[in-house]
Amino acid sequence: MDQPFTTIIEPFRIHSVEPLRMTTADERALAIERAGFNLFNLHADDVLIDLLTDSGTGAMSRDQWAAIQHGDESYAGSPSWFRFEAAVKELFPFNHVIPTHQGRAAEKILFTVIGGAGKIVPNNTHFDTTRANVEATGAEARDMVIAEGHDAATIHPFKGNMDLAALEALLKDRAADIPVVFLTITNNSGGGQPVSLANIRGVSDICHEYGIPFFLDACRFAENAWFIHEREDGQSDRDVADIVREIASLADGMTMSAKKDPFGNIGGWLAMNDDSIAEKCRNILILTEGFPTYGGLAGRDLEAIAQGLKEAVQPDYLRYRIRSTAYLGDALDEAGVPVVKPIGGHAVYIDAKALLSHIQPLQYPGQALAIALYRTGGIRSCEIGSVMFGRQPDGSEKPAAMELVRLAIPRRTYTQSHIDYVIEVVTAVARAANSLPGYRMVEEPATLRHFTARFEPVA
Ligand code: F0G
Repeated sequence: MDQPFTTIIEPFRIHSVEPLRMTTADERALAIERAGFNLFNLHADDVLIDLLTDSGTGAMSRDQWAAIQHGDESYAGSPSWFRFEAAVKELFPFNHVIPTHQGRAAEKILFTVIGGAGKIVPNNTHFDTTRANVEATGAEARDMVIAEGHDAATIHPFKGNMDLAALEALLKDRAADIPVVFLTITNNSGGGQPVSLANIRGVSDICHEYGIPFFLDACRFAENAWFIHEREDGQSDRDVADIVREIASLADGMTMSAKKDPFGNIGGWLAMNDDSIAEKCRNILILTEGFPTYGGLAGRDLEAIAQGLKEAVQPDYLRYRIRSTAYLGDALDEAGVPVVKPIGGHAVYIDAKALLSHIQPLQYPGQALAIALYRTGGIRSCEIGSVMFGRQPDGSEKPAAMELVRLAIPRRTYTQSHIDYVIEVVTAVARAANSLPGYRMVEEPATLRHFTARFEPVA
C-alpha cells in the first residue's frame, strides 16, 4: 500500500465475533491442577487467549465461507477437488497432489512407503509429528540446522537454514540409506525461522548430485517466502507467489498441513513428481484416508483451502502477519524477556532456559513457564523443549537442545489489544520467574508424550 503512515493495520475488519470467557485466578489454578498441569488437557472455554497453536485456529475470510457454499460432496471427481488441485498446483506444480485430512497423515503415508529400519531422514529440524512418523518406521530422524539455529540469542536472517556441509558429508557417507531429505519452511521447532532461497537451492543441488529426492515440509511456505522477499538479496521486487513457485521447482515433493498458511481449519496434502512412489502412497491413502479426490476431506474443506491459498500469498496480509508477530516479540524483548531472535513468522518463542535458569532441564522450565502464563493471565502457550523432545527412541531421557515456550499466533484472529494484554501478562510472569517451581512427569504415554502426560510441581 502506498501511504505515508507507519502503523501496520490489520488488513481486514471483523465480520462475525466469538465471545471470550473471563476466568478468575482461583478458577484457573483449579483448572490446571485438574488438567494434570498439562495445557493440552484444559477445556478451551477456560482459556482466554489461546496461543497453543497457529494450526487450524485461523479466522476464515468471507470469501472462504462463500467458497464453502460451493462445496460439492461427490465421492469421486468433485469439482471442489479440481479447484483444490488447481490452487495447489498454481503454487506447487508437482505432478501428483494427494489430499489428506492433515499434515501428519501425509507424513505417515510417505514414510510408510519410503522409511524403514536402517534409514536416515535429514531435516533442518523435524517437527514432533514428523519425527514420530519417521521413527515409527524404524528410521532415524536427524536434525541438521545450522549452528546459529541452536542458539536463541544469535541473530541470523535465515536461522532455519540447513547445515549444507554436514548434509553433504552425510550424503557422501550414507546416500544409500537416505530415502529423502526434508526441509521445514519455516523451521517451526527451531523458532519459526525461515530458510533462504539460496539454502533451499543448496540443499536441492546436493540432493540431486547424490540422486536423493528433496521434499519440503511446507506448512508455513508463504511466511517463509515473505522473509525471502524482505531479507534476501535481489528478492524484494518479486511476487510472493513467484518465490513460492521457485521454491517448489527446486524440490521433488512436499508434505503439507493446510491448517497453517492456507487458512484451513483442517486439511493437508502430499505432493510429488515420482509416479511410482505416488502410486504406492495413493494405495495407502485409499486404505486410511479416502478416495484420491477427497482424501479425508469434505468438498467444502477443499474449497476453503483453495480460496485460502490465494489469500495466503497476498503481500498486505503477509506484511501485517509478520509485523504483528514481531510486535509481540519486540515488546517482550524490550521488557527484558529472553526470546528467540530474530522473531519468527508464526510465533514468539520465549527462552525458558534463560528465564528460569534455577530449574534444571529435566524439571521442565518451559512447562513451568507455560503453566504460570496460564495461571496468571489465562494464556495458553506450548512447551517446545524437554517435555516434547526429551524421551529418546532407546527409552532414555535427555534434555532437548533448547527449552522454549511458544506463543503461536492464530492467523487473523486476535487484535492488537489482545496482544498488548499478552505482553503485560508475560512481563509480569517474567518478573517473578525465579519463584516458579519445576515439575515432574507422573504419567507418560509411549509416544508424543507432551499431548497427554500429567505433571506435579516439585516442592
Ligand atoms: N510439520 C510442521 C512443521 C508442523 O508445524 C506441523 C503441525 C505438522 C507438520 C503436522 O501438521 O498438525 O496438520 O498434522 N504443527 C502444529 C503446531 C500442530 O502446533 O505447530 P498437522
